[in-house]
Amino acid sequence: MGRLFNKHIIVAISGGIAAYKSAELVRLLKKSGAQVQVVMTSGATEFITPLTLQALSGNAVHQHLLNPEAEAGMGHIQLARWADALLIAPTTANVMARLAQGQADDLLTTLCLATQAPVLLAPAMNQAMWTDSATQANLQILAQRGYQVCGPAEGEQACGDVGAGRMLEPSQLLHALDKQFEQGLLNGKKVVITAGPTREAIDPVRYISNHSSGKMGYALAAAARDQGAQVILISGPTHIAVPTDVTLVAVESAQQMLAASLEACLGADYFIASAAVSDYRPAQAAEQKLKKYNADHGLNIALIQNPDILATMAQTFPNTTHIGFAAETQQLITHAQTKLKAKAVQMIIANDVSDPSIGFNSDDNRVSLVTADGVDELPLLSKPALARRLIDAICKLSPH
Ligand code: C5P
Repeated sequence: MGRLFNKHIIVAISGGIAAYKSAELVRLLKKSGAQVQVVMTSGATEFITPLTLQALSGNAVHQHLLNPEAEAGMGHIQLARWADALLIAPTTANVMARLAQGQADDLLTTLCLATQAPVLLAPAMNQAMWTDSATQANLQILAQRGYQVCGPAEGEQACGDVGAGRMLEPSQLLHALDKQFEQGLLNGKKVVITAGPTREAIDPVRYISNHSSGKMGYALAAAARDQGAQVILISGPTHIAVPTDVTLVAVESAQQMLAASLEACLGADYFIASAAVSDYRPAQAAEQKLKKYNADHGLNIALIQNPDILATMAQTFPNTTHIGFAAETQQLITHAQTKLKAKAVQMIIANDVSDPSIGFNSDDNRVSLVTADGVDELPLLSKPALARRLIDAICKLSPH
């Protein structure tokens, strides 16, 4: 049975002449056993009728964001949750611009913001519009945010021009959708991930911590889950939702994180340490809230070192593949290579935290992968897109 069988696919059609090809795509999807919902922008209905798409998909076509009738049936959030994949075919220059801006001014753009499913774009436009710097800048933003861009192809265009801008053929788009449901690289594997900051108690109400958001670790957990892994996410306090089908172990201190990691790593195939673990903790957490002394007295808190969780795991579980992060402000690669050896791990993901546009609390990151075999630099990517690339790279690490 094909991979698209029973999968929930949204085909969103925007207003371009290639819209007629999307009717064939819907037919092919139905033939593959997929369940298909069609979304059309008002521009799309100028090129092809909703009735055609309704007949081919077997479902009423969704056209409006706030239509009381539609919202009473499958509203926009329900539709966003229903989807296993969403393909915009054709994707016009206008849709690319609105998506790049994060607009939610119609059903299509709102769905793209609301869905957790992969979103594929099949651009189709005049070749000059495609090569225009505004469109290319939008393309970069969208690719960086994890949108998958299929095409366009080159050739003769409906307007008579020749160049890049033709929508891919329905069979090629079918193939791109089918690939989304490839067997997971981590099927049957157990992956343990640490994420977020730790909190080290000074007294019952105060603690030492850091600005880690946890975004990278949570994105890694979702990406590992998408590849079929059983994922245990050991997280310090964060404000982000736990990805579905991921087991969360909530901890506060480094010592709790270590204990949880030791427990979770039994039988684990991969241990990924993305947590920003506090290197030190107060030697003794006061049992009662510390009181203010007079202004002349400062407050001295003796700190002792926390255990290195990653190094401990690498030592305790030699059959597990260990991956760590190195956030550095200088000599990035040299420090990462030192860490690779010192902690005896198989990969260090190194990022330059002197650049405020990447790392810690930002949504994007640019990293280098450091292994015993060498250094691989990745481009600037959104954390979810980067997480997918990292999981791919981690799966390629040779067993040791
Ligand atoms: O030594 P450094 O803190 O730079 O190493 C960073 C890497 O080690 C990260 O992967 C981090 O999660 C991990 N680490 C750890 N336990 C510590 C300190 C760091 O697991 N106490």
